[in-house]
Amino acid sequence: MNRQIQLPPDFLWGVATSSYQIEGAVAEDGRGESIWDRFSHTPGKIDNGDNGDAACDHYHRYADDIELMAELGVGAYRFSVAWPRVFPDGGTQLNRKGLDFYQRLTDRLLDRGIAPAVTLYHWDLPQALQDRGGWTNRDTVARFSHYAETLYDALGDRVELWMTHNEPWVAGFLGDFRGVHAPGSTDLQAALRTIHHLLLSHGEAVAAYRASGRSGQIGIVLSLHPTYPVDDTQEDRAAAEGSDGYTNRWFLDPIFRASYPADMIERFQRAGARIDFVEDTDLAAMAEPTDFLGVNYYFPRRVSASGAEFGWKVKEHPDPGVPTTALGWEITPSGLTETLLRLRAEYGDMPFYVTENGAVFADEVEPDGRVNDPGRVDFLRRHFAAAQQAISAGVDLRGYFVWSLLDNFEWAFGYSPRFGIVYVDFQTQRRIPKDSFAFYRDVIATNSFELPDGA
Ligand code: FCB
Repeated sequence: MNRQIQLPPDFLWGVATSSYQIEGAVAEDGRGESIWDRFSHTPGKIDNGDNGDAACDHYHRYADDIELMAELGVGAYRFSVAWPRVFPDGGTQLNRKGLDFYQRLTDRLLDRGIAPAVTLYHWDLPQALQDRGGWTNRDTVARFSHYAETLYDALGDRVELWMTHNEPWVAGFLGDFRGVHAPGSTDLQAALRTIHHLLLSHGEAVAAYRASGRSGQIGIVLSLHPTYPVDDTQEDRAAAEGSDGYTNRWFLDPIFRASYPADMIERFQRAGARIDFVEDTDLAAMAEPTDFLGVNYYFPRRVSASGAEFGWKVKEHPDPGVPTTALGWEITPSGLTETLLRLRAEYGDMPFYVTENGAVFADEVEPDGRVNDPGRVDFLRRHFAAAQQAISAGVDLRGYFVWSLLDNFEWAFGYSPRFGIVYVDFQTQRRIPKDSFAFYRDVIATNSFELPDGA
């Protein structure tokens, strides 16, 4: 037996991408270098030596890609602006041609009835700013405000949905502490400073949007992981609490409570960090009220107590029999429902969007030219159902952006993990909509789908 799952009538269905992952054309029309150009061209940083030089060539093919979105029937498209296209050296010298690309993109989307949803920062900082310390330098906050205001002026009459930052946890901890993302440093102090400035710049960019008098909605996008103890022991529960602080509360608390969590301050101090970068008005500024929260949900974290580092260790591989994606990420749709319910209970009843959710499977083009991806169809179906469950429990979830429209440059993993609902042949740039594209098109068209009982 199947159950029919119905979404609210005004539910916003969308797809998401980001500039460095799809645009290519890195040296075109005056674009400056970004930290991801520098990082991806540093030997040993990216699997297979891949880089974003060509990516999906979306910079030239955006109109065709928008046709694909129109065929899909999405109401919105979440993309990011490459800061170094607009300000090649990160300063105030505007590159009109770079900005024009986003004007063309926005206009074409609107022509096709698709609402643009703009992320200001999806990790491609101008390298020139990195040369002056990047996000560890407080001056980058002011640079970001200027960049944000420039975009409000340029696109604010047509864009109604804005996101300041994408996943400051990834940018800060993976970029400055784990060293696996740009800029690639391994310094806890640098990571905490970076995150502080990202969050401060978020608050200031929201304030600047309000000051501009525009009526759209603005928020931030966080990567959130429900965190479970491996064993139900006091030690593992404490470890899970710490790990939750690291990925979730270190971001949610400043944004919604104007404070950093005290237990985490203590943990970071014990690991040698100094919380010496918080100035008087920063906490209030970081908590500037937003219109919504964007939630990127992929998988839960399971942790156990350990002597290492902060006192926990993340279980790297799910137990045999637990379903995973081809990247080895545990598939647990209930984690999405749980995350949304937790956010409402602990941080307030506000509008939410799922700003990213999706999965990698070993997609191949079949002899008949199709890309059959039943794993992704099942993944999406069950995560849509999890979202609907949160809505029936009263969560004000307004929309859902599938990651991603296209297979693209998956950061340190390069091009081999395919997240798209459209297959990209990177030799020819040919696009082939996968079966999941057809599935999603039907979901959008009917605002409903069938869920097998027990799924
Ligand atoms: C998120 C990123 C996005 C993409 C997906 C798979 O962390 O925001 O760019 O890489 O993961």
